[in-house]
Amino acid sequence: MTAPSGDDLRHLILHFTKAAAWKAGKLPIYVRGEGCYLWDDAGRRYFDGLAGLFVVQIGHGRSDLAAAAAKQMEQLAYTPAWSAAHPPAIEAAKLVTSLAPGDLDTVFFVTSGSEAVESAIKLARQYHAARGNPAKTKVISRDLSYHGTTMGALSATGLTAITEPFEPLLPGFRKVPNTLGATDGVAAASVFEEAILEEGPDTVGLVMAEPVQNSGGVLVPPPGYWPELRRICDEHDVLLLADEVINAFGRVGPWFGSELVGGDPDLVSFAKGATSGYAPVGGLIVRRSVADTLLEGGVGTFTHGATWGGHPVSMAVTIANLTAMRDEKVVENVHANEGHFAEGLAGLAAAHDVVSEVRGAGYFYAVELCVSRSRGEHLDEETTARLIDDELPALIQDAGLLIRGDSRGRAKLTLSPPLIATKDELDELLAGVDRVLAGVPAALAG
Ligand SMILES: Cc1ncc(COP(=O)(O)O)c(C=O)c1O
Repeated sequence: MTAPSGDDLRHLILHFTKAAAWKAGKLPIYVRGEGCYLWDDAGRRYFDGLAGLFVVQIGHGRSDLAAAAAKQMEQLAYTPAWSAAHPPAIEAAKLVTSLAPGDLDTVFFVTSGSEAVESAIKLARQYHAARGNPAKTKVISRDLSYHGTTMGALSATGLTAITEPFEPLLPGFRKVPNTLGATDGVAAASVFEEAILEEGPDTVGLVMAEPVQNSGGVLVPPPGYWPELRRICDEHDVLLLADEVINAFGRVGPWFGSELVGGDPDLVSFAKGATSGYAPVGGLIVRRSVADTLLEGGVGTFTHGATWGGHPVSMAVTIANLTAMRDEKVVENVHANEGHFAEGLAGLAAAHDVVSEVRGAGYFYAVELCVSRSRGEHLDEETTARLIDDELPALIQDAGLLIRGDSRGRAKLTLSPPLIATKDELDELLAGVDRVLAGVPAALAG
């Protein structure tokens, strides 16, 4: 493929990206990847400290995953996963559910995280209808949460900057506070019960939360939070969805984030890490008893589907990726090095007065920024926007990194390296973050 010219860029609309930066040629164009690294069109190497977008667990450039895709394309590129099945979908379902905790034992495949969440919203409606409770349609999720861009998933999203342009959203979606700053898990979860009681338990069908919430700054809930969510949902006959689009497949340590937080959800949405980005896959894992109720009661069908759901090539890649992650002990690599990563980040926080807090788990962290920790000075909204939009991108690029500056909630850097990163590679990422943080005071002053 030839390198794109300035004129070629006119034809492409980037997702969630200010057109001015793209048109000014300020954004990188990546052309190659290997392991933890990406190369841009000028041949410059970057450390992919975001794993693409919380995606590339196994690292870039794996020829075995490419070979699995090619083999499936040659044998059977496409047949749908409705009214018939095919071996890759059957095997992928077996593999995903074998890794999932408890009786999360059936899976509905789609092609993105948004579709997985959308599927949960629709499945909850049909589940309650099958049990004679068709009025249980409302959904409760959390402030500053991101659950996707399709209208249902967007309506569950708690980020006004991306929901407001699309109002009116769907009715029956309510937000409660997230766990930022919470220390008592049971007390923090009680906001869900209050909301259910206020809305009327007969009208609420689904509670939705990430085990570790990304937006808002990698919020690890206090102990007791998820067991209390389970109690509340049982008490009021509400399905509990763990949105693990980011958390699943080792990102926060175990295979699933629910294991980290003591979660016992009825539904788990996933996407991203399932294929490490080598093909688009999303899915909804469904507790066996919930699937049985849906498929054996009511109309006996989950009345939902899509042409690409369970695509044979994506399924073959899912199998190849998860098998390689299991056999190469990628999750064990995270366990072996997560302490080192956490210590390194704590060291950076101690060294830089512009860091107010570091939060996270596994290979998933937020470095929250402020004007001065020692003087207790936070960033105002205007400075946050200037820092994140205008100053940090250049600092990050100069440091040879791909990490995210995030202005949703408080200003922060989000780190999410490939799960194959070794101690030395994590040190390289930490050294890059050190350089970025060293540049923040001047950026704030400028
Ligand atoms: C928690 C969560 N849910 C859902 C989504 C939507 O996934 P997708 O972008 O694949 O539609 C995302 C995307 O980042 C996410 O982080």
